[in-house]
Formats: sequence, C-alpha cells, structure tokens
Amino acid sequence: MRILAIESSCDETAVAVIEGEGEDVRVISSFVRSQIDIHQAYGGVVPEVAAREHLEYLFPMLKEAGVNKDNIDVIAVTAGPGLAPALRVGVEAGKALAWAWDKPFVPVCHLEGHIYASWLSQTPDSGLQTPDSRRQMPEFPALALLVSGGHTELVLMKDHGEFVRLGETIDDAAGEAFDKVAKMLGLPYPGGPEVEKLAVDGDSKAFDFPRAMLDKPNLDFSFAGVKTSVLYTLRKHEAELCKTQFRTDIAASFQEAVVDVLCRKTAKAISVHNPVSVVLAGGVAANKVLRTRLQELGDKLGVPVFVPPFKYSLDNAAMIGVAGYFRALAGQFADPIKVVANPNMDIV
Ligand code: KG4
Ligand code: ZN
Repeated sequence: MRILAIESSCDETAVAVIEGEGEDVRVISSFVRSQIDIHQAYGGVVPEVAAREHLEYLFPMLKEAGVNKDNIDVIAVTAGPGLAPALRVGVEAGKALAWAWDKPFVPVCHLEGHIYASWLSQTPDSGLQTPDSRRQMPEFPALALLVSGGHTELVLMKDHGEFVRLGETIDDAAGEAFDKVAKMLGLPYPGGPEVEKLAVDGDSKAFDFPRAMLDKPNLDFSFAGVKTSVLYTLRKHEAELCKTQFRTDIAASFQEAVVDVLCRKTAKAISVHNPVSVVLAGGVAANKVLRTRLQELGDKLGVPVFVPPFKYSLDNAAMIGVAGYFRALAGQFADPIKVVANPNMDIV
C-alpha cells in the first residue's frame, strides 16, 4: 500500500511517500522545506506567514514527489494539533487530491505521527540498522515519551492507534522551555538545538536547577519552574552574561535538569506499567543527551528503547505516512468532505 502524506501543522512544509506491507514500512521519498529562516526575524512562528509559505511550496513539492492517481493508494494528512491557518493548507490540499483522485483519506494526529517516527528507526535509509540488518520494531505495550514544542507527555500505546495518556505537563512543554531559555540567552529560534550546542562545553553540575514533580506519585511534568530559575540566575549574574563559560554552564545545567526529569519520570512509568518497548518522540528527541540517557536507562532496566532517526525527529511527513498507513491497514478512513483541520486535536 502506498501512502501520500502531507504535513503543514507548523513551520515545515512536508510531503512523503510511504510504502507499507504488513507490519513493514519504508520511506520511498520524503521532502521537508523549513521556514525557520523566515520566522527567525519574528522570534517565533507567525501562523499567517507559515500558511502563506505552505501555499507557495506545497504543490511544487507534490510535483517534485512525482505523485499521481496511479502511484498512490491512500492520502494521509496531519489534521492537528497545530496552527490553524497552517494546518488548513495541508488538510484542504489533501482533501482535494483525495476527492479528485477518488482515494481513501486518513486524517492523522501530529503527535501520533511523532510516535510512529520510531517505526522508521531501522529502515535502510536511517543509518541505524542492526549489524545483521534484522528489522526490529517497537512492540506493544509501548511507552512513548513525547517531547515536542507544544507537548510533553507519557503515553502508553497498547496497540496500533490505541493510546492512553499516563501523564503530561501542567504548564510549559519541554521544547517550549528550551526555546524560552534560548531566548533569555539571546539565541535564535528554535532554541532547542542552540541550547544543546552551547551546552556541549558546559558543566552540567555548575547550577542546581529545580527538578519539579519528582516527589509526586503521578507521571505529570512541570517545566515552568526550571525556566524561571534560569531567569533569576541570569538576573543575579547579569555581569557574567557575556562570559562564554557562564553561558555554557547555564545551558548544560538547564539541559541536565530537563533530561533528568524526563528520564526519571520515564523510569517511574516503566516500573508501574511494564512496557515491552519505549519510544522517544517529538522534536526534543533530536537532543543527543536525551537520546543517549534514555537508551542507557533502557539498557539498565532491560527494555529496548527506540529513537527516531535524526531526520525524522523534527516535523516531517514520513512519520505522518507511517501513522496513516497503520490507520489505513485497520480501515480507519474518513470522508474527506467532512474533515476539518483541528488545532486542538489530541492523541487520546
Ligand atoms: O516536534 P517539533 O518539531 O514541533 C512540534 O510539533 O512542536 O518540536 C519542536 C521543538 C522546539 O521546541 C525545539 O526547540 C525542540 O523541539 N528541539 C530541541 C532540539 N531540536 C528541536 N530541543 C532540544 N534539543 C534539540 N536538539
Ligand atoms: Zn512536531
């Protein structure tokens, strides 16, 4: 089954073609056009500007992907969550194609897409194959640590398309905290990769930033406190803000606090829910310290941890195609005429 996938929920216009057979999926092609350079001038994503860029680039990208009604079986589109004007471009384009080509249509939750990026962990183009090229896939029940710009959640995936939320952030998402701390340090948007780069030369023990909610019995998170603590520390040491060592130490200590909380809450979720695999998902999954630390945790607890290949960690359409494929396999189609973009769409 060949899936055409479209993603336009934020500031990446993305198109991909996925081939699925049984439990196996592979990427035929994947195109991503980032708008970061345009939004950087505003310090964040401007929804109307994002929509205008999607409108300009989506159809040329579909043309580049070489898709037509004879080489595609199903159309899958990110229907939410995301920025309403941006989402609408992809949703309406996908609906129009499904209608014109008379193809089944699958609206996909962007968060579900991020989780399915780990089904591409060991595809031939991921660079993460096992030595004997054996394909390993996450198995159920799988625990997903979902860390993106807008969401931080622990989700138990009981089967394809069956999700139970175990915990979530009560304030800022982890990615949002990275972006805000980056701003405080005068770094450009998006802040996560910039903070990670700065942290490489820093001492992660230089500042003892708070690890919120660890004493709580639940699996919820809070990152507003660590962000505020960074702000107060920067104010207190204003004179040092231009010193490289001070800045790298702040970045490393902040990153350490966030990664520590994410891993300790994941460990708690593993001990309570006994998943057979763990999946890291969302833009923050691109963070190397988090990837390594979570894999070390999995090794220690004897649970295989799946991380998406770097190129499928950030927003892309391949992950939407994989999620769409498993929905299509289960016959979960929607009437394209009735589907509307849903900025608040949720995974459960
Ligand atoms: O999943 P994503 O691309 O977009 C959303 O669906 O929200 O995630 C974007 C978020 C941003 O907050 C960005 O700063 C963060 O992921 N991010 C990172 C890294 N790369 C992206 N955070 C920490 N370290 C990174 N290397
Ligand atoms: Zn995303």
